[in-house]
Amino acid sequence: MPPEARDILAMNAFDPAADGADAQASPGLLERRRANFGAASVLFYRRPIEMVRAEGCRMTAADGTEYLDFYNNVPSVGHSHPKVVEAVRAQMAVLNTNTRYLNAVTEGYIERFKALLPEGAWNVVLSCTGSEANDLALRVAMEATGGEGVVVTETAYHGNGYLTTQVSPASWRKGAPPASVRAVAAPSVEAYGEDVAGGFAAAVAEAFAALAAEGRRPAALLIDSVFSSDGVFPDPAGFLAPAVAAARAAGALVIADEVQPGFGRTGAGMWGFARHGIAPDMVTTGKPMANGYPMAATAARPEHLAAFCERFGYFNTFGGNPVAAAAGGAVLDVIEGEGLIENAARVGARLKAGLEEAAAGDARVGAVRGAGLYLGVDLLTEGAPDPALAVRVIDGLRARRIMVGACGKYGHTLKIRPPLPLSESEADRFVAAFGETLAELS
Ligand SMILES: Cc1ncc(COP(=O)(O)O)c(C=O)c1O
Repeated sequence: MPPEARDILAMNAFDPAADGADAQASPGLLERRRANFGAASVLFYRRPIEMVRAEGCRMTAADGTEYLDFYNNVPSVGHSHPKVVEAVRAQMAVLNTNTRYLNAVTEGYIERFKALLPEGAWNVVLSCTGSEANDLALRVAMEATGGEGVVVTETAYHGNGYLTTQVSPASWRKGAPPASVRAVAAPSVEAYGEDVAGGFAAAVAEAFAALAAEGRRPAALLIDSVFSSDGVFPDPAGFLAPAVAAARAAGALVIADEVQPGFGRTGAGMWGFARHGIAPDMVTTGKPMANGYPMAATAARPEHLAAFCERFGYFNTFGGNPVAAAAGGAVLDVIEGEGLIENAARVGARLKAGLEEAAAGDARVGAVRGAGLYLGVDLLTEGAPDPALAVRVIDGLRARRIMVGACGKYGHTLKIRPPLPLSESEADRFVAAFGETLAELS
């Protein structure tokens, strides 16, 4: 029997009730953290790490330990990338203001960004976080369709605002999203059998039909095209197309949440949805967009945005400021200049092959899924999801100075997403450490 669905934020997190003050590496800092953050404090690892600097794919802790970062998809072009640092420094020294003035840096960025989107006219609203980008996309979809019904996947996470929490089943520790939100199983073979495309599309169609039967008009299908918090389900590429058609047939708009797969991570073009050959009605981005400088975007068709703006004004004080635009532009320069999409494809394939090899013959390792440098590895005991084993593997990798997280409905999937400049030797180091950890745990 599978275990209970898990609260991912709580997995392998420091727990003040269970983990004593001796868990800390940095005297006093943990108490200050608890006093400052209160109940909202979430720290990785039962023995939290104090980080002091990072470069490329490496992060250095206060005690001098250097970790390989296989967790963090925000500094996607590499921690502290000199080109991004310099772009921020130079623009910050000249002008940083809001978008109610004309500014060529911001317009230049948006023009580059639009050129990366599917054909046709787009408008782009810049903001600071993925949550804001999704909140606006949902509101635009609701105005443009006159509907309220939203379909998401079962363990989706789309943000921390009021509306985005409603469409994020993963965030609910108690209770559930409202009746206007329907969650369907993530597109896995376990849920839908071999015909993932057909099964997922049928589930989406059923969910919209159920909403309509309750008098709730469809507004949006909101999907992260690698289904990251659901457990990483990128394949077979193309499987999303029938679900997109089903959503449109129901009268909903399709929002591609590219906060996780966007900006080259899948190694197959700039966007995760591109692997599926679909053109969404809206695209939202965040995290890796400016390599850690807060920057996010909602790209919408002009007529949909106009419908929203007839009813509401929208202004975002920090969104699209020239420093963010300069950072975002530097990120695009680095992705192109350093061939990071190609690197994600090449090193990601090597990493996946290595993990498959390490997994062969070890019944504790289930499926290895992945596209480019976004991978998921299931950990099992007697064929059933084992989140406790995932935590032990995460700790075993930490002991080998590699950081990685977990995801999925049961929290038994290792979530592997290092910065895109990952080298072959760094990928090999991960594979070796994964094998050693498993051997140690047997
Ligand atoms: C798929 C997805 N969408 C949206 C968000 C929210 O982004 P942010 O934390 O920048 O608000 C996240 C954050 O983890 C995410 O993974």
